[in-house]
Amino acid sequence: MTPVPSRFLSAMVLAGLLAACTPLAAATPAEDHRVRGRAVASQLCSRCHVIGREPQAGGFIGPSFVEIAKMPSTTGMALNVFLQSHHQRMPSLQLDREEMDAVIDYILSLEDPEAARP
Ligand code: HEC
Repeated sequence: MTPVPSRFLSAMVLAGLLAACTPLAAATPAEDHRVRGRAVASQLCSRCHVIGREPQAGGFIGPSFVEIAKMPSTTGMALNVFLQSHHQRMPSLQLDREEMDAVIDYILSLEDPEAARP
């Protein structure tokens, strides 16, 4: 049996990594999607939430997005459900599917301190 050339193996590993990193839904690169999410958040959420890692001026009645991102219960699914249901203190916001996905992506990205800032 001939040994598999290591060049071939590393090409396979690379192909696997690339496949794993490809975002499922978005046609645009993940970074663009988060930038979009951040823009939506600053428009619709920033009067009640600190939306970024940096301090933000104003009075806030909701938890910061970084805190939300760090809660163990926060998943894409949970955010989806939350944003589509009615709450006592937070108004129901009319986000379209694309805005919702972008905001969710953005919030989840805040959990990782290493993730590139949008
Ligand atoms: C008018 C104020 C207001 C606006 C605007 C607002 N929120 Fe909130 N939000 C709140 C308050 C108050 C809470 C905490 C109480 C609650 O859970 O209802 C909250 C809680 C949340 C939570 C849940 C945290 C948990 O405990 O699970 C998420 C997620 C969230 N907001 C996301 C958003 C997003 C995304 C937007 C913008 C699209 C937004 N909020 C806009 C007031 C607001």
